[in-house]
Amino acid sequence: MTASEATRRSNLIEGSVVYPIGSRVNDRGRLEVGGCDVVEVTREFGTPAYIYAEDDLRARAQAYLAAFRGRIDDFEVVYASKAAPFTAAYRVFEQEGLSVDVASGGELHMAVRAGFDPARIHMHGNNKSDAELRQAVDAGVGHVICDSLAEIERLDAYCAEAGRVQPVLIRVTPGVKADTHTYIQTGQLDSKFGLGLADGLAALGVEAVLAAPNLRLVGLHAHVGSQIFELEPYVRAIEALAELADPEWCRLLNVGGGLGIAYTEADEPPSIETYVGVKVRGIERVFDPVPRIVVEPGRSLVGNAGVTAYTVGTVKEIPEVRTYVAVDGGMSDNMRPMLYGSRYEAIIADRADQAPETTVTIAGMHCESSDVIVRDAILDAPRPGDVLVTPSTGAYGYAMASNYNAVPRPPVVFCRAGDARVVVRRETYEDLTARDE
Ligand SMILES: Cc1ncc(COP(=O)(O)O)c(C=O)c1O
Repeated sequence: MTASEATRRSNLIEGSVVYPIGSRVNDRGRLEVGGCDVVEVTREFGTPAYIYAEDDLRARAQAYLAAFRGRIDDFEVVYASKAAPFTAAYRVFEQEGLSVDVASGGELHMAVRAGFDPARIHMHGNNKSDAELRQAVDAGVGHVICDSLAEIERLDAYCAEAGRVQPVLIRVTPGVKADTHTYIQTGQLDSKFGLGLADGLAALGVEAVLAAPNLRLVGLHAHVGSQIFELEPYVRAIEALAELADPEWCRLLNVGGGLGIAYTEADEPPSIETYVGVKVRGIERVFDPVPRIVVEPGRSLVGNAGVTAYTVGTVKEIPEVRTYVAVDGGMSDNMRPMLYGSRYEAIIADRADQAPETTVTIAGMHCESSDVIVRDAILDAPRPGDVLVTPSTGAYGYAMASNYNAVPRPPVVFCRAGDARVVVRRETYEDLTARDE
């Protein structure tokens, strides 16, 4: 390979939409994330490992805040913590001035323990247990987002017992289908989430909360889906919410998360700036007065900030069929290819400056034929011992990780200005048996 080819390859990483901000190819021809040589990081902390550029997380939080500040005064950016629920992520977004969305008692526990002011916590869940409702009220969460009529009744009853008045929003299914994988569409009437507009349940929810002595209705919520590139459904969802909202009580409008990210170089998601602009303009057009505008992004805050590093093991060439390159992780650290058929890029971190020309299928080490991370990846011919990196794994990878095949879950490493630190340690074999009687 010529020097100019190597330069071109390095530029591809620096200008890439799938690698964390600031990633590059260093003088040794290796991938660098957050100022750290990824191969060195894996030598220190092992593989597989989730590696995040901390500055990328902070930059995206600031991009959301800046997009709002340029437009309105009364807004709230809420981190949908299901996307990457570990303490260091909660802390980063708390420090950057975001609020947080939790969707279970466990996420609530983590957010509080990480230092979030409970007033900045939004409690979600389509099936909150009595224990979770109590936990939320006792913690003093700012808002409970009510998902069903039965929940409204149970929450009111507990607030009466606790002697508290709880501010609530109603989660509305506005009857809007987002253009995304069916498994992550949530705005259509036929959904397990929320109270439908079309069937009148959302209106009944409003009546029920207004009549509940221990609840205070402060607004509405809608989240139409995830990994969304086409923003028009948001405008329709906002129009639908406007029909239900009354300025008497609607001081806050939470229009969900959902902004898509680039998983491959071919993906062109809207920018944070464009996404916020569409939501703000949509609300300004149909709401008077304009309530506080709340968004709750998950994927678009953390997805491109993280990569996963593996070690290449068995390389199996089936002549005239395909070459399988097996790595030391797979569906236990990234379920998305199996759940949604998601596509990823990949690179050999040791030789990130080489023009790749070998087409291979990157397989995991689990006992399922579907355990394939990337089909038809083009790599610099992988060899056992190489460090193989898949970018854009910062969202819903760690969150959905499992111990399938009794594989300990990987660590999370934050890289910043050349320093790498473990923020979640790797599980051990002892951890695997720690709960067994
Ligand atoms: C209610 C709610 N809000 C926000 C989000 C975050 O979505 P995303 O990660 O696509 O931004 C989700 C994700 O499913 C959600 O269910």
